[in-house]
Amino acid sequence: MRLIEKIDDMKTIIRMKKKEGISVGLVPTMGYLHEGHMSLVRASKRDNDFTVMSIFVNPKQFGAGEDFRRYPRDMQRDAKIAEDAGVDVIFAPCADEMYPHDFKTGIKISGVTDILCGKTRVGHFDGVATVVAKLFNIISPDRSYFGQKDAQQAAVIKSMVKDLNMDVDIVTCPIVREPDGLAMSSRNVYLSADERRAAVILSKALYEAEELIKNGERKKETVRDYIMRRIMSEKTAGVEYVEILDADSFKAVDILTGKIMVALAVRFGKTRLIDNIITEVDA
Ligand code: PAF
Repeated sequence: MRLIEKIDDMKTIIRMKKKEGISVGLVPTMGYLHEGHMSLVRASKRDNDFTVMSIFVNPKQFGAGEDFRRYPRDMQRDAKIAEDAGVDVIFAPCADEMYPHDFKTGIKISGVTDILCGKTRVGHFDGVATVVAKLFNIISPDRSYFGQKDAQQAAVIKSMVKDLNMDVDIVTCPIVREPDGLAMSSRNVYLSADERRAAVILSKALYEAEELIKNGERKKETVRDYIMRRIMSEKTAGVEYVEILDADSFKAVDILTGKIMVALAVRFGKTRLIDNIITEVDA
């Protein structure tokens, strides 16, 4: 496995691979790898001849007061995990390489960015779209892999790819969970022991809500109130949102029918966690 830090070097490797007719998969990450990232690598290796993982803590997607500085970083550990998983190249540029002092371009996506996490993390998805567009231009992947945990991020990237006619397939992979149900996230390391125990309520509430729906409940407000109550039974939990939407259009629904997504963002102390489930509801 090679570790590349310069954009020109990365482009040279990709040009050579493309000349040989080799397909390229990209797994974009901010590092501090966990099993969720590994599932993306496995999907990329299944679908492509050559897998590039980017590791870059993107300053443009963090707002003022967010966790850019304390975001967990450990390149040595990540390189070992990526190599063991069969990643061919890690692309790990520094911030100045990606955003030189005269950088002045940004991608702005409307609609899907105005809801859920976009309401409180203003500008976050523009930062994500901008860095992912740069990665697509540098690495020219045939396919790129994103986790369903960041469902809104995947929807934003799909919109960008469609609107800007980018030649890359976006593949969304299922959420990977800890044995007790907590969705894997690099941010889970921030949780204190008490918060970590309490955070299990998120997946519990989502699964219980799914059961409620399976047993015939169709009113969004009833399901939403149930989830809120369950989460608030944990004193350390601060709910930012619980929303129920059409899983494809991301439009709000009042009566649950078709493919729906239940999504939430909840704070435990200083740690903000997101999670979601998608479920098919008969009319
Ligand atoms: O999901 C992430 O880790 C990041 O948002 C991404 C897609 C790597 C862009 O910085």
